[in-house]
Amino acid sequence: MIAHKCLFPAAGYGTRFLPATKAMPKEMLPIVNRPLIEFGVEEANAAGMSDICIVTGRGKRPLEDYFDVNFELEHQIAGSAKESSLRQIRALNDACTYTFTRQRMMRGLGDAVLTGRKLVGNEAFGLILADDLCFNLDGDPVMKQMQDVASAFDCSVIAVMDVPQDQVSNYGIVVGDEIEANVLQVSSMVEKPRVEDAPSNLAVIGRYILSPDIFDFIESTEPGAGGEIQLTDALNALAQTGKLLAYRFAGRRFDCGSVDGYVAATNYYYRNVVHTC
Ligand code: G1P
Repeated sequence: MIAHKCLFPAAGYGTRFLPATKAMPKEMLPIVNRPLIEFGVEEANAAGMSDICIVTGRGKRPLEDYFDVNFELEHQIAGSAKESSLRQIRALNDACTYTFTRQRMMRGLGDAVLTGRKLVGNEAFGLILADDLCFNLDGDPVMKQMQDVASAFDCSVIAVMDVPQDQVSNYGIVVGDEIEANVLQVSSMVEKPRVEDAPSNLAVIGRYILSPDIFDFIESTEPGAGGEIQLTDALNALAQTGKLLAYRFAGRRFDCGSVDGYVAATNYYYRNVVHTC
């Protein structure tokens, strides 16, 4: 199974970053000088996914503008030293195609993914939650690692990491049997359990490679935790068919949906990437 498309749910409000996100998509918050979403798109492209499908919502038009040329600006700085700052985004825009659709009502991650069905069609796809910023500075980016696992096992894969027990209620939690080093066959999943109910401390993070049958599973998913259509519930149904793997990835993940995680990611990127250039 190889994914050529990558879906980005990007309709959320980013309320934890208000007022900054009042008139700007949270996916455009910069990590030093690059917007969050650019890191996700770069990771997808490095894994061989060049069809970028973005589920947006009202107020998200800057995302479309970012993945286009800004003719006036580019004309102004053409030939100057400033032009080099556009090198990475220009390369990414040339390498990928971008399609957008809007989620009109916020009904949860499962619903956002289902909204992307028309863009993805009937093929395997990557799914990246851009809030989760992943770095693996000494090796393959996380999505590339996932692509390798999905293709070796011909199976859907979700990225997981061990989290401290007191944080399990922030994540989808996975139970499974290790079938080789760092690869588990998932037997069940639960979205944001209470600490005392959590069946393990193995948490899903925002990197997935999924077969298109997940869309049918989402369609038959009833609203779950928080009254929302939970992707985790649909993944749990997929797991019951024995066709879902969890992969303990190599690298660092930052929760840029929280202020602490965002600041930690910014510092990490500045110290380990920007500062060393
Ligand atoms: C979402 C998913 C959850 C997953 C998490 C990873 O939750 O629903 O299963 O563990 O992303 O970041 P959210 O953080 O959007 O509430």
